Amino acid sequence: MNILVCGGAGYIGSHTVYELIEQGHSVVVIDNLCKGHKKAVHKEAKLYVGDLRDSLFLDKVFEENKIDAVIDFAAYSLVGESCSEPLMYFENNVFGTIKLLEAMKKANVKKIVFSSTAATYGEPENIPIDEKEKNVPTNPYGESKLMVEKVLKWCDKAYGIKYICLRYFNAAGAYKTGEIGEDHFPETHLIPIILQVALGKREEISIFGEDYNTKDGTCVRDYIHVTDLASAHIKAIEKLFKDEVSGIYNLGNGTGFSVKEVIECARKVTQREIKAKICERRPGDPSTLIASSKKAIEELKWQPKFNCLEQIIESAWKWHLNHPNGYED
Ligand code: UFG
Repeated sequence: MNILVCGGAGYIGSHTVYELIEQGHSVVVIDNLCKGHKKAVHKEAKLYVGDLRDSLFLDKVFEENKIDAVIDFAAYSLVGESCSEPLMYFENNVFGTIKLLEAMKKANVKKIVFSSTAATYGEPENIPIDEKEKNVPTNPYGESKLMVEKVLKWCDKAYGIKYICLRYFNAAGAYKTGEIGEDHFPETHLIPIILQVALGKREEISIFGEDYNTKDGTCVRDYIHVTDLASAHIKAIEKLFKDEVSGIYNLGNGTGFSVKEVIECARKVTQREIKAKICERRPGDPSTLIASSKKAIEELKWQPKFNCLEQIIESAWKWHLNHPNGYED
């Protein structure tokens, strides 16, 4: 198939492009490279540098390529930044995807996999979280993704555009060949920051809050390997072609690790000293997020391969050791 990947130079997008190409698909990538990295784009993918909010640009991409389905990763994704710049988030994440859907409609492309998030749930009432949990986002990032999910529902009803929304929990790790991995600027995520401490690039890791109602007082998250997320997108495309039914799926491992447990595991994997200090809570952090991915396992026939935290951190560590400055090397 010929798949258009929007945001294919970003962290999860670039890993999905690698998986698609490995499985024999042709890939067209759109990325404005404002957060993504040109070096992260697979050599066999056809890259268009441009923005989803530019309709003329999008029409050109659809005219020049016969696209069978779209995967949309293109978005801002920093929770903290979204709280101080909500308009920037709604403009890019919601308006950008609306423009993409308009171009798809024009080009008669009727299938899309959309990159959504556990942040659509906010502070959940039930753990593990299944897709029936209430959606009460606690930040504009999660709200922007939920808004697009709603837009997609109406585009299905009106235009027959079939969609699958994948709500990721905490993505981590890097590609098996060591060619691509996680490189954000600024880096805000727990595992890369811990590994930067192990590399000596940072003095210490700040633990945001030790007074949560969890096993050791620190926040609990469900870490899922980025290539497991990538493979779920391919399963989602296959399902859209097979069943022509839209749906929403959580993607996680179903196991929660506290911030302290993640740091301890990283000490074991790297065999290096990793200094940590307790700080204030970070605003907007839910205490515990653990997925039930039962629906994805049953309906998408998806199965995560990396189901232990040590393996996930090992994979991230390999990337960070070989690319201490990310794609700048
Ligand atoms: N944390 C620290 N110190 C740090 C960084 C993070 O203690 O320096 C803690 C956070 O407070 C949180 C946990 O580590 O409890 C994980 O934090 P991340 O920033 O790595 O990830 P989040 O859980 O905040 O966010 C992730 C994705 C978001 C998505 C969200 C869903 O990055 O895109 O999950 O809730 F929205």
